[in-house]
Amino acid sequence: MRQHSTSTHLAQKSSWTHPIYTKKQILDVQTAHRKASSWQDRVALSTVKVLRWGMDFVTGYGTYSPISISVPKTRTMTEQKWLTRFIFLESVAGVPGMVAGMLRHLKSIRMMRRDHGWIETLLEEAYNERMHLLTFLKLAEPTWTMRCMVLGAQWVFFSGFSLAYLISPQICHRFVGYLEEEAVITYSKAIKDFDDGHLPLWEKLEAPEMAIKYWQMPENNRCMRSLLLYVRADEANHRDVNHTLGNLNQTDPNPFAAKPKIEIGLPQLQQNGRVKD
Ligand SMILES: [Fe+2]
Ligand SMILES: [Fe+2]
Repeated sequence: MRQHSTSTHLAQKSSWTHPIYTKKQILDVQTAHRKASSWQDRVALSTVKVLRWGMDFVTGYGTYSPISISVPKTRTMTEQKWLTRFIFLESVAGVPGMVAGMLRHLKSIRMMRRDHGWIETLLEEAYNERMHLLTFLKLAEPTWTMRCMVLGAQWVFFSGFSLAYLISPQICHRFVGYLEEEAVITYSKAIKDFDDGHLPLWEKLEAPEMAIKYWQMPENNRCMRSLLLYVRADEANHRDVNHTLGNLNQTDPNPFAAKPKIEIGLPQLQQNGRVKD
């Protein structure tokens, strides 16, 4: 396990202080699929399916559950393989929000027009994904092979997504929505593997300190299972936000834009967190 110094400044409020999830909110998260109803949706969904298939094939991804007998031994997931997968996926997941936010920011100042509240949500998503990555990096040290894969993947994905976002932001948000559907499925499978007793090294492991501070995890809710539930709730949120943004025109107001903090105060803002009861 990596040794890091976790300084106290992480506990301080930032611009993107995470809303506090209730236990019910993290337990109620469900896998979901938005039916592809247009050719744009089908393009987005097919791209995600091809990427997922390629990623699964290359990383030998497979879980014990629900078909443990038919999964070959080489395709079962250990704690280390889950962490490797999380680290790779989260390093990629931090790209779309930053690209979309950056391009909308540049467009706003270039065209001298307002953005209608999208940029903050998109950058917050990128920040949240980076916190997922940093959390898992507390639990595993990436190999040089992994670092090279991340480098290559970021170069390809950043270039491709930037170009695609310039052409069709709607398709890109739909693509991210479908990608996040897969993320929810992945974390749900990891949780099921844990519940089925296939990840014994995590049974007594506590979430890293930075995760406890970031999600403001309550004292009786700081185990690895809880951490996976918190991350999965974030992914479900990204899924719903991006599918919604994919339905909107570019000049529509962002329905997820934060309420002014001065007017309603932070506690109320947290209660108005984007994951609804
Ligand atoms: Fe993530
Ligand atoms: Fe995500």
